Amino acid sequence: MQFKTNSLYYGNCLEVMQQWPDQCIDLIYLDPPFNSKANYNQTFGKGNGVPAQVRAFTDTWIWNDAAAQRTMDLKNAVNHPAHKSIVGLHTILGDSGMLAYLTYMAERLAMMKNKLKPTGSIYLHCDPTASHYLKMVMDCVFRVSSFRNEITWKRHESHNNAKGYGNIADIILFYVVGNNYIWNQQCHKYSDAQLGRYK
Ligand SMILES: C[S@@+](CC[C@H](N)C(=O)[O-])C[C@H]1O[C@@H](n2cnc3c(N)ncnc32)[C@H](O)[C@@H]1O
Repeated sequence: MQFKTNSLYYGNCLEVMQQWPDQCIDLIYLDPPFNSKANYNQTFGKGNGVPAQVRAFTDTWIWNDAAAQRTMDLKNAVNHPAHKSIVGLHTILGDSGMLAYLTYMAERLAMMKNKLKPTGSIYLHCDPTASHYLKMVMDCVFRVSSFRNEITWKRHESHNNAKGYGNIADIILFYVVGNNYIWNQQCHKYSDAQLGRYK
């Protein structure tokens, strides 16, 4: 699958990215699985006026043979950019659904690092289920010094939680490849109300 700009690719991102040259991407924003334990349905078309709903995506991760293999591969690959984080996270989490998820993400985040230009940036959208573990993987893959911001995306309404505080935010981890990263400053005019305060 040849790399083309302004294009939409369909498939497993690991396999798609493998076909691309290294250092060809300016910016990555990823909204990957969160390990949210939720099922997401998608509504397509309207046959006979009734929307057809299919199970589009199951965000539940379990420890299985594939996860064990991924973990072993990453632990054996001492030069893999995510190696140290997976060794540490395996010690903390053991054989678990969370580690199954994190090894899956580690393989893809390392590939993304290779595909980003030296001036590139990456925004990883996740939530508090795994953001703290993902930050360790990102620190390892991109380096601690490449971390720029943890952005909080606050919703108006929280998810229900009968016995605890409602989760009201997603997290976006912003990392760059190198110090020479491209940054386009975003500005907008002050509102009249804001200007009025200083008259
Ligand atoms: C949190 S959802 C993102 C939803 C999307 N942003 C939207 O608004 O519809 C995560 C998505 O990643 C997809 N996904 C999971 N693993 C993938 C992979 N290896 N390659 C490409 N997409 C993947 C899932 O099918 C799911 O649609």
